[in-house]
Amino acid sequence: MSELRNHTPDGPPAPIRAGREPRFPGGPVADPAGSHHERRIRSFQPRRSRVTAGQGDALQRLWPVWGLDIDGLRVLDLEEMFGGLPVVLEIGFGMGEATAQMAAADPGTGILAVDVHTPGQGNLLGLAERNGLSNIRVANGDAIILLREMLPPRSLDGLRVFFPDPWPKKRHHKRRLIQPEFLTLAAARLKPGAILHCATDWEPYAEQMLEVLSAHPDFENTQEHGGYAPRPAFRPLTRFEGQGLDKGHKVHDLLFRRPLGPA
Ligand SMILES: C[S@@+](CC[C@H](N)C(=O)[O-])C[C@H]1O[C@@H](n2cnc3c(N)ncnc32)[C@H](O)[C@@H]1O
Repeated sequence: MSELRNHTPDGPPAPIRAGREPRFPGGPVADPAGSHHERRIRSFQPRRSRVTAGQGDALQRLWPVWGLDIDGLRVLDLEEMFGGLPVVLEIGFGMGEATAQMAAADPGTGILAVDVHTPGQGNLLGLAERNGLSNIRVANGDAIILLREMLPPRSLDGLRVFFPDPWPKKRHHKRRLIQPEFLTLAAARLKPGAILHCATDWEPYAEQMLEVLSAHPDFENTQEHGGYAPRPAFRPLTRFEGQGLDKGHKVHDLLFRRPLGPA
């Protein structure tokens, strides 16, 4: 059997089988390009989590309609995917409750929601169906490959990164998503004037976000005097945020814009 090598930064490469069958026939591919494509430090930890019967059912029925496997092999036509709606990319939607709420509150905006978490993908598809939300598409795989290989330049009207994994240990800081390199890639995919909205309950990560975003030439702070933004009313409480608040954490929102630049 042909094998690819799955390179992990913290251990020896683990063998993975190429062309593995999806766990849910018709559902997301078990091993999208993100996990074997290249040697790179990842901002997520692959996990094989339990999927409920309802989530599995949603994955099988709805993935062919609203799902997207991140294979890194084609450039997406967002206009066709979303019928011409402006499109916001949400990276790391978790279980997707907040994503569904935002999609319901703003049906005139398409949300391309990406995560590697299978139960969450099933949950969000189920929420979209039950609430009649036709403006959500769910992508499976690494957001970096989606941004780099599959989204055209200046194609996004916004980018949301809510409560990205904080990777609190110093030796894991390199796994944090919000880094200068990521911002350069994200800026290239955002339309001029589009907003990057980050939120975190992890104070040291908030400080890092503020520092790298403020220093990045492709972004400007929407706050006239710099610093964090007041929590926008449109951002629902997310699951991860609730857990942080229960622990007494303070939440910070950061709203930065890709500048309009010269006309
Ligand atoms: C801490 S959880 C937060 C989930 C949700 N936003 C919330 O607030 O409840 C972060 C999520 O980001 C996902 N994630 C991290 N890096 C990712 C990447 N490069 N591509 C896709 N998903 C990613 C993880 O799988 C995880 O589900």
